[in-house]
Amino acid sequence: MKIGIAGTGRMGEAIGSRLISLGHGLTVWNRTPEKTKALAAAGAQVAASPPEVVAASEVVITILTDDKAIDVLYNGPHGLLSGAAAGKLFIEMSTVRPEIEVALAEKVKQKGAALVECPVGGTTGPAREGKLFGFAGGADADMARARPLLEQMCRRVEHVGPIGAGSRMKLAINLPLYVYWQALGEALLLCRPLNLDPERLLSILADTSGAANAIKTRGGAVAAHLAGKDAGAVTMAVDLVCKDLRTMIGEAQALGGRVPVAESALKCFEEAARGGFGTQDQSVLPARWAKQGKG
Ligand SMILES: NC(=O)c1ccc[n+]([C@@H]2O[C@H](COP(=O)([O-])OP(=O)(O)OC[C@H]3O[C@@H](n4cnc5c(N)ncnc54)[C@H](OP(=O)(O)O)[C@@H]3O)[C@@H](O)[C@H]2O)c1
Repeated sequence: MKIGIAGTGRMGEAIGSRLISLGHGLTVWNRTPEKTKALAAAGAQVAASPPEVVAASEVVITILTDDKAIDVLYNGPHGLLSGAAAGKLFIEMSTVRPEIEVALAEKVKQKGAALVECPVGGTTGPAREGKLFGFAGGADADMARARPLLEQMCRRVEHVGPIGAGSRMKLAINLPLYVYWQALGEALLLCRPLNLDPERLLSILADTSGAANAIKTRGGAVAAHLAGKDAGAVTMAVDLVCKDLRTMIGEAQALGGRVPVAESALKCFEEAARGGFGTQDQSVLPARWAKQGKG
């Protein structure tokens, strides 16, 4: 299949490498051109502009920072919708508020194209292996077109409702994860006087009822941060964690509710971002908290 990816950041690049490995023809574009190099080396065509990606592709995938990036990339003067788009299928995978995807779907429809949203659970490793968890929203007919491709990117695809439903589900699944990073940091602080080897300590915590699944996949990185060792490549930056939490809080407020635990986690993580950790991997957050006040 001829597939386009506009936005080859960490997730876009990882998804692209998965699609190339399956034999799809890939055309890519990224605002910062250097970030297309790895995919180009793996066989992707690099387009000169977003409309060129659309022209070269049957399906166009986007997974971008936030709502502003979506607006610029789709609706800008040289955006994805600035040229011919009739008949194309767009799969929008960014983590944003449901209303952003609803508004985008309307614009895409006006161009005679279709949109399915499918934000994902799982980070760059699962993306490279086709093991993401997709939370899809869209019309049944559009979803039927998107599903075979989504199933090549995801270990599980849940079509949870119309456009906007996938985003709502994605925000919900990330909330306990981020709260957990903060809770883990606080637990590690209590453990500090034990002076246990960080890997052993993480292995003990991972094997208990209070553990989240994330400690099984990213516990090694947390242990490395605790030990002051190299924790590997950034998968999800702290700045994006803060963006997700702000998005969740905004959504809860729109529902007339509050999410005080998430609000509290955001305050702690914004403090980390202000302290220079914004571009580091999210796994630094619990380790940083545990080291606080260390004399
Ligand atoms: N990383 C993860 O583990 C993970 C997991 C699940 C979901 N997500 C979600 O997936 C999305 C992408 O995450 P990521 O980690 O891949 O982020 P990232 O590495 O920072 O990539 C963000 C992408 O958005 C592009 N972008 C941002 N602003 C733009 C603009 N104004 N115009 C055009 N392009 C713009 C960036 O282009 P440049 O390269 O030019 O900046 C880049 O291609 C986010 O919504 C995140 O919450 C991430």
